[in-house]
Amino acid sequence: QRPAFRPLSSPGTVAAAFRREELPSGSAETGSEDRSPKKRFTEVQKERREQAQRTVLIHCPNKISEKKFLKYLSQHGPINNHFFYESFGLYAVVEFCQKESIHSLKNGTHTPSMVTEAAIPFRSRFFNLKLKNPSNQTSERPYIQSSNQLPPSSKKLFELLCNAESIDDQLNTLLKEFQLTEENTRLRYLTCSLIEDIAAAYFPDCTVRPFGSSVNTFGKLGCDLDMFLDLDEIGKLSTHKNIGNFLVEFQVKNVPSERIATQKILSVIGECLDHFGPSCVGVQKILNARCPLVRFSHQASGFQCDLTTNNRIALKSSELLYIYGALDSRVRALVFSVRCWARAHSLTTSIPGAWITNFSLTMMVIFFLQQRSPPILPTLDSLKTLADAEDKCIIEGNNCTFIRDLNKIKPSENTETLEILLKEFFEYFGNFTFNKNSINIRQGREQNKPDSSPLHIQNPFETSLNISKNVSQSQLQKFVDLARESAWILQEEDKDRPSPSSNQPWGLAALLLSSITNSKSLAKKKNKRPASERIRNLLDSIKSNSTENATTANGK
Ligand code: CTP
Ligand code: MG
Repeated sequence: QRPAFRPLSSPGTVAAAFRREELPSGSAETGSEDRSPKKRFTEVQKERREQAQRTVLIHCPNKISEKKFLKYLSQHGPINNHFFYESFGLYAVVEFCQKESIHSLKNGTHTPSMVTEAAIPFRSRFFNLKLKNPSNQTSERPYIQSSNQLPPSSKKLFELLCNAESIDDQLNTLLKEFQLTEENTRLRYLTCSLIEDIAAAYFPDCTVRPFGSSVNTFGKLGCDLDMFLDLDEIGKLSTHKNIGNFLVEFQVKNVPSERIATQKILSVIGECLDHFGPSCVGVQKILNARCPLVRFSHQASGFQCDLTTNNRIALKSSELLYIYGALDSRVRALVFSVRCWARAHSLTTSIPGAWITNFSLTMMVIFFLQQRSPPILPTLDSLKTLADAEDKCIIEGNNCTFIRDLNKIKPSENTETLEILLKEFFEYFGNFTFNKNSINIRQGREQNKPDSSPLHIQNPFETSLNISKNVSQSQLQKFVDLARESAWILQEEDKDRPSPSSNQPWGLAALLLSSITNSKSLAKKKNKRPASERIRNLLDSIKSNSTENATTANGK
């Protein structure tokens, strides 16, 4: 018997966001069937990058007529797409049909003359639009619709969650509200492209690529923008004119190690961003980190940016997560909810420290989904087995090979609901033997921990590294306690769900309350035994119940 066909991907992926433009609005909602072939990560990156190169960022006066604005810019060529957003002022993102339009626009633009200060005449694709005659336009004042770049407020989120029909509906709603929008994705690629123009002042052929949650389909609105300065020439060398007995190399300066080269490059780029980069503020050079970086705020887009170089493996892990995110529509819904849950309880923060990171949480969800029966996600080793010769990829001696064509991976036959998966996720990690075992998505099974760090999650490509090495025992304990409490709340609610009219937070909404212990269902059941004992007993009873159920089911 063949299982019913399930949707292959959730449409919020970057690839789907692309297609969404051609679809009537609303037809690409989460959970809807999507049988169209899915784009490869590299294809999406290439298309987005090319789109960003035809795009400009314009700071606009608040009172502006959209029609006149577009007419004015169209002098330089046809416009393919545009949107406005607000971030300490009104901004427009304008995508021309042709790159040449940007030259034309730049040619007609001048560097402002200052009265008390002096301008550094860096001619970028970030412009300032002024009204020649402000009083002329104010009278019309048509409403400009600006696109939202922020996640929903807690109040709005709670309302939406409380009005949802089921826990599955809640998880999908949360995903829809938090995932990066088409506009936000465009703005991220545009910001990278603008930074690339600055880096190109030193390295004319460089590429600045977004990686991490901006592109791996797990980014929440408001997440940072990780950028990778790619100076590698591979793929750019033309082979013709290379015939003959000679080989030409560039004369270069040598330094003692790759790390020092990275530090030197980032150091000058950091200076350049600080001195010449329009809108780049708060530039910090963090060159002694394991992975040296330049951190800054891009004020106009509102993104906190981390620029690294020589970090090709991280780009590869973004590609892997992109694949996992696109394989099954439940993956992103579950990851988003777990990320929001962790944030709501301060398990994650925006400051680096002994906390669990979103990247680690995503790995935990993937690992958990590999453990289901039948598995919802394949192991990395099986993705490697499926790889073709053209997928082969070795980076710094690490084998990073896996199949890149999503359409060649068989969808899972598992039909568990998100509600079950969320509950089981909390139960699984509430009882995981963290003191002995390591999480490993390559093999998809628990391994003995190679060292004594409290939480060990193997880096999928640099297998000797632990991606959660920073996590302290007390932070891990906090995660475990919260996971147990959450499993318990969901279990209890199952028996005794508040009626929709009671206006009480239920399901996911109850789990996201900043203090779980305040939640109604828990308060009601509170007795004098210590919480840990109560929870242990409950979990034991849940466990024995589920074992019983499983035995009964299997016995049929
Ligand atoms: N990374 C890694 N090992 C780590 C931390 C990060 O390989 N210990 C890589 C991952 O590819 C990750 C990327 O660096 O996706 C960016 O790291 P970070 O910004 O911390 O995580 P994101 O996945 O971008 O999540 P967030 O939304 O929290 O920024
Ligand atoms: Mg990030």
